[in-house]
Amino acid sequence: MKKTLMSFALFAASLTTVAQDGGIHIIPEPVKVTSGKGQFILGKKPVIAYADEKLKNSAAFLTDYLEKNYGVSADAQKGGAGKKILLSLDPTLQQDGEYRFVSDAKSVTIKGKDPAGVFYGIQTFIQLLPVEKGAALVIPAAQVEDYPRFAYRGMHLDVGRHFFSVDFVKKYIDYIALHKMNYFHWHLTEDQGWRIEIKKYPKLTEVGGFRNGTIIGRYPGTGNDNQRYGGYYTQDEIREVVRYAAARHITIIPEIELPGHALAALTSYPELGCTGGPYAVAQTWGVFDDVFCAGKESTFTFLQNVLDEVITLFPSTYIHIGGDECPKKRWETCPDCQKRIKDENLKDEHELQSYFIRRIEKHLNSKGRQIIGWDEILEGGLAPNATVMSWRGEKGGIEAAKQKHKVIMTPNSHCYIDHSQSKKEDSVTIGGYLPLEKVYGYDPLPAALTAEEAQYVLGAQGNVWTEYMRYPSKVEYMIFPRMSALAEALWSPKAAKSWEKFNQKLPAMYKRYDLWQSDYSKAYKNGEQWVK
Ligand code: ACM
Ligand code: ZN
Repeated sequence: MKKTLMSFALFAASLTTVAQDGGIHIIPEPVKVTSGKGQFILGKKPVIAYADEKLKNSAAFLTDYLEKNYGVSADAQKGGAGKKILLSLDPTLQQDGEYRFVSDAKSVTIKGKDPAGVFYGIQTFIQLLPVEKGAALVIPAAQVEDYPRFAYRGMHLDVGRHFFSVDFVKKYIDYIALHKMNYFHWHLTEDQGWRIEIKKYPKLTEVGGFRNGTIIGRYPGTGNDNQRYGGYYTQDEIREVVRYAAARHITIIPEIELPGHALAALTSYPELGCTGGPYAVAQTWGVFDDVFCAGKESTFTFLQNVLDEVITLFPSTYIHIGGDECPKKRWETCPDCQKRIKDENLKDEHELQSYFIRRIEKHLNSKGRQIIGWDEILEGGLAPNATVMSWRGEKGGIEAAKQKHKVIMTPNSHCYIDHSQSKKEDSVTIGGYLPLEKVYGYDPLPAALTAEEAQYVLGAQGNVWTEYMRYPSKVEYMIFPRMSALAEALWSPKAAKSWEKFNQKLPAMYKRYDLWQSDYSKAYKNGEQWVK
């Protein structure tokens, strides 16, 4: 008897949950959702009308999604009143990226403050579709008012340690778009491979794009596979990817690492190092002593020429110049570096690094661009206009915001998607433990900042370092579902966030990953993590 009562209570509770939110499970959680009565039936050949040419890409994104995931051929057309699915702009809305979504039995309307807002409304539309292939295409009646909490909602991908095809990079960009995120930080150069074609320096990819082996297993490894490995993106491919991202309201920030993590570049052009080499593209992971020489003028000529080509490919105002993990060992004994320290009245090698970054910043600023650097760029003095990406915890970000510099939070405590997601590691990872709940609970605004200082925090980003992600399936396995949790931490107002509700939304999200034919953490799928 008691057992029956108990089950009934649970049953009633689950009914209440459905009734309360109408089964509307949107990630990231919107600012406000109201469920209505009935549902909208898309039919066999839905027409998606857009009132403004600027919304064509959003309509195309939806038609592609319907085709790819449900085999439905929708028709996108310019149009206005009287259309059943209508996208339009509404300049009376206030916030960048804001939208209103209304569905009922007769129509679906999405109005955006700007084209990005309409695009985010499309993502909400997508999340209201059924998650099973072959299910009738209906969406529940609902009203959604929504806009993002943070202006910067990013994901990073390291293509240096392992190279990923243009096709996968596009899929990754789609994942960013489907989560209402808007920045892709493309980590293009590393010790283990230089991945971007530079016309003036062809050896960067001919030589630096390949390594003659890779360690097996976790660092320091149980051996070397002795397989030549590598690849790179041509400039045409890069332009294509940039266009693809722009159509999804995503800005790509390229990263060209300097002065450290430069072995692939040094192997291609040994004269850029302090010792002159010879060097070899790295076959193992970690931090290497050989870095760009900060004394020789030719280093700056080279890097400025490289960056001049980079900025022709990437319209992003922000260009990431690395700045992390640069050992000073070679500089300490290099006559050119020591002469530079003396000539420029620098105190030590940290100030030499600061000199290096400032020179690069000055060059990029002169071309209308702004630099982002990892938090080591604080050491020896911050370049005047630099944005700091805080990765060694939040300390660097807090310090930079206090100095009135812009900040993007990517603390390794909460945003390192390469760390293990289960307590007992179920595959080789770089280590650490970053469970879903911790990502979900992340608030990019540290309590240590005043309201005024907090305005310098643009948002946050998930970092995906790929030492232990050789294939796309492993990347997907690592990012899902943690990326979905991060998306909510970055988009949703604090008051709308609920770990309990997020868990209720996850089963549908897993089915959606299946629909996308994406791999994801089986540990989570089997309920080992997300149900306590
Ligand atoms: C970093 O993880 N080295 C930025
Ligand atoms: Zn030197």
